[in-house]
Amino acid sequence: MTKFKFIIILFIALLLEAIFCSLTPSLFQLGARDVFAAEEQYYIGNRKCRLCHFEYFKGWEKDPHANAFVRLGRMQNNPYCLKCHTTGYREPQGFVSEKITPELRGVQCEACHGPGSKHKDSPYDKEALPIGRKIDYQSVCIKCHDRNWTPEFDYEKYRKRIEHKIEPKVKKEVSP
Ligand code: HEC
Ligand code: HEC
Ligand code: HEC
Ligand code: HEC
Repeated sequence: MTKFKFIIILFIALLLEAIFCSLTPSLFQLGARDVFAAEEQYYIGNRKCRLCHFEYFKGWEKDPHANAFVRLGRMQNNPYCLKCHTTGYREPQGFVSEKITPELRGVQCEACHGPGSKHKDSPYDKEALPIGRKIDYQSVCIKCHDRNWTPEFDYEKYRKRIEHKIEPKVKKEVSP
């Protein structure tokens, strides 16, 4: 008999949940999506990328994107500006504020390549990084380089200006 009661209670609970969720669909969906995304992929900050991609990091430091947050000046708390001048704003473990997430200031690696938590753990898994080599990067750029901010955006021209890798000055001789 207890088993039967249990099933009834479970059924009622599910029914109530279904009703509740249908009343507040957007709220429920948002929560579910965030939790899912947080489990799947999240931002780790470019200090982590630096561990394995030192030369890219060095190159990025000279890139205007590195100063994108600092350049905001007094507008560093303006949500409208943060969307394009930080990394992963309002995304799972993305930028929140300078106090809480100083490591995600500016337009970092993950702003163009997507959150890197999975890639860090399995770098050879081609599916791990959301935005790897095989992609139309122009579509990534124009999320920020829209008509307002860069009316004359030309992918080829702009792409050349972010040649973000620097060859190491001294090439190590590999001895057998
Ligand atoms: C839709 C994305 C986006 C938003 C929102 C945005 N910016 Fe920018 N911002 C850019 C881009 C892209 C550039 C680079 C423009 C270029 O040189 O092509 C830029 C450049 C700048 C510069 C460098 C100076 C210049 O004009 O070249 C400053 C300063 C700046 N933004 C401040 C702000 C402030 C303050 C806000 C909020 C009021 C803001 N931005 C909101 C994308 C954005
Ligand atoms: C402004 C956007 C942007 C930022 C920021 C950025 N990248 Fe990239 N990255 C690109 C683009 C575009 C390519 C593709 C280059 C191509 O093939 O044209 C690329 C390619 C790469 C590649 C593959 C290179 C290859 O051999 O094809 C690596 C590795 C990489 N980036 C690492 C990094 C790291 C690490 C950082 C941060 C330190 C970073 N990127 C920051 C845009 C960016
Ligand atoms: C544990 C070391 C490690 C870390 C940390 C790491 N990477 Fe990588 N990454 C690699 C290796 C190794 C490859 C080359 C994989 C290959 O050739 O198949 C690679 C390849 C890439 C590529 C080219 C992907 C492609 O499609 O070929 C990009 C872009 C990239 N990394 C960006 C990043 C970014 C951004 C971060 C930080 C969020 C990061 N990596 C952190 C080791 C790492
Ligand atoms: C997350 C938003 C964002 C993305 C994505 C992004 N950028 Fe930017 N970019 C900016 C901002 C903001 C600036 C202005 C930085 C500053 O001057 O402080 C900028 C500046 C630049 C500049 C310097 C502009 C100048 O007048 O010299 C170049 C070049 C550039 N971006 C190229 C690219 C390319 C190419 C891509 C795509 C592969 C890309 N950006 C993706 C936000 C972004």
